[in-house]
This record gives sequence, structure tokens and C-alpha cells, in this order.
Amino acid sequence: VARHFTAKVMEGQHVLVSAGPTFEAIDPVRGLTNLSSGKMGFAIARAAHEAGARVTLVAGPVGLPTPRGVARIDVRSALEMKAALEAQAPTASVFVSAAAVADWRPATSQQEKIKKDGTGQVPTLSFVENPDILAGIAASPRARRRELFCVGFAAESHDLQTHAQAKRARKGVPLLVGNIGPETFGKDDNALLLVDEQGVQELPRAGKLPLARQLVAEISRRLPVVVA
Ligand code: CTP
Ligand code: CA
Repeated sequence: VARHFTAKVMEGQHVLVSAGPTFEAIDPVRGLTNLSSGKMGFAIARAAHEAGARVTLVAGPVGLPTPRGVARIDVRSALEMKAALEAQAPTASVFVSAAAVADWRPATSQQEKIKKDGTGQVPTLSFVENPDILAGIAASPRARRRELFCVGFAAESHDLQTHAQAKRARKGVPLLVGNIGPETFGKDDNALLLVDEQGVQELPRAGKLPLARQLVAEISRRLPVVVA
């Protein structure tokens, strides 16, 4: 039996992870979503559990198995994801926001399936912006006191470092992780750019699980030392 002897660097921590896309309903059979696979977030949840943490994983609609030992809460929309994360945040010591939250949702969701009217007329959809879940949690008193260490992600198509540094400031998080392209959604490997107040650091291309293990180790190094 293969075994991983991972240092239990997350012993005593409650790690909250969001993963996957959200799905914003247009009507009972249609909606708006994105191509996030959830693989990176699930790998982080698994790695945090291996490192000895209690782990809660809030997952958008993905077809991935729950990592062993991880408590999973399934959600669909951004508003459901926000409610689930905010319910867990008060007991968490680390929040890793790996979900690809839909930026907008339809302004109104129809209770009945929208029908073609037979004339070729197309429906007009209007949207409202979803709340920024990470920025909200990062602004909470516990996060400001670093009792809850918040980690954001950024998927950018260009100028990753500039955008990631700006995003870190905008979200008010101590650590922001950029996905180094090209196109990471659905892939099994990735490379990460870690941006914190010290500067930037690259985790070179590797499988998502080894990368998640390195990221968990990097997060644990940044946690406040608790003196008993
Ligand atoms: N995020 C969030 N709630 C949102 C949008 C994003 O919590 N409504 C989180 C994501 O989980 C991620 C981080 O914020 O950790 C950055 O998401 P990203 O989509 O890269 O940034 P946005 O602020 O949405 O900006 P844009 O998509 O325009 O680049
Ligand atoms: Ca976005």
C-alpha cells in the first residue's frame, strides 16, 4: 500500500475550501456557469486533510469524488455558496477560495421554462453582479485579526503578476495565488504564482495534487504561531 508521510503542519486548523463553478439559473432547465473543473480546490482539500487539518469543502456543481475525511457541502449558485461559506467561516482558521464564482446572475430567474414564441423573437436577459464572497469574508474582524487566514485565487488571461498583485490588494487577502496559463480549467496539472506582501514566488508546473501539497505547506508557514 502506497503511503504518504506528510508532515502534519495543519494539525489543529479548520481549513475551509471553496471549489468548482457556480450555476446561476435562468429558468428551471437553463443557466449560466463556467468551465471550472473543481480539481484544484478538491486537491487542496485533500492535501489539507493529509496535513492534519479538519477540512470543510464547499463545492459547486462538479462530478468529483469527495476526498477521504473531508466534510463536503454541495451548493449551486453564488448566493448559496456565500451562505454556506459564511456559516463555516466563524469556526475556520484558513479559507482557500478556489471556486470560480460566476460574476453575474440573471436579474430574475423564471419559475417556468421560457418558451419560444414561434416568431423567432429572442429573449433578453439582464444580469446583476454577484457579491464578492472572498472580499466579504476577508473584511470580517476575524480575518483582519488573522485568526482566519484568507487565500484568493486568480485566473487571468494576460499580465498575471500585475493583475494578481492588484487583486490581492483589492480583495484584502494576505496571499493570492495566480494560475499560470495557458488554460488551466479541467487540466490535471498547473503552475502557480504566489503573491504576498514579501513579493512573488513560483511553484513550477506539476500535477494539481503535488501543487496543492506545496501550497498547503506555504500557507502553514504563513499562519500565526500560537503560543500555548
Ligand atoms: N471570488 C469570490 N466571489 C466572487 C468572485 C470571485 O469569492 N463573486 C473569489 C474567487 O474565488 C477567487 C478570487 O475571488 O478566489 C478572484 O476571482 P476572480 O474571478 O479571479 O476575480 P474577480 O474579482 O471576479 O475579477 P475578474 O473576474 O473581473 O478578474
Ligand atoms: Ca471573476
